Amino acid sequence: MTQVTLTVNETQYTRDVEPRLLLSDFLRHELGLTGTHVGCEHGVCGACTILFDGESMRSCLIFAVQADGHSVTTVEGLAPDKDNLHPLQQSFWEAHGLQCGYCTPGILMTLVPFLKQNPNPTEDEIRHAISGNLCRCTGYQHIVDAVKLAADKMREAEN
Ligand code: FES
Ligand code: FES
Repeated sequence: MTQVTLTVNETQYTRDVEPRLLLSDFLRHELGLTGTHVGCEHGVCGACTILFDGESMRSCLIFAVQADGHSVTTVEGLAPDKDNLHPLQQSFWEAHGLQCGYCTPGILMTLVPFLKQNPNPTEDEIRHAISGNLCRCTGYQHIVDAVKLAADKMREAEN
């Protein structure tokens, strides 16, 4: 076992873990943060995407021990409570950007840094940004519409 200390959603955790434990499994099984979904465990589907020191990262592609000393944000850290959703979450709801929702946490965590870097994206740029996130349900148009809506909301909130 190896000791790991990391910050997740602004809370610091210290745990003894097997060196082979994936960060995705650490978040789900050690911390109970099951909003991070696991689809392929091969870095293909994007369902497990989290923020790692503020950047999108696939949590199935690194070990928990590699997160020692780092800061992680999961989908649970996006909104303070269910009545105050992040603009992206609110927009996915309003624009019907999800059906089963399995892919949604990973897509949201991909889009948070994307919209920071590109607050006024074109439809092509949005499609490119989520091209590494597989959705089996929607055909993507509603997801793209939700991202445009979120970008509008976030720009309005800034002004
Ligand atoms: S579970 Fe990590 S990319 Fe699919
Ligand atoms: S909403 Fe079902 S997989 Fe994307």
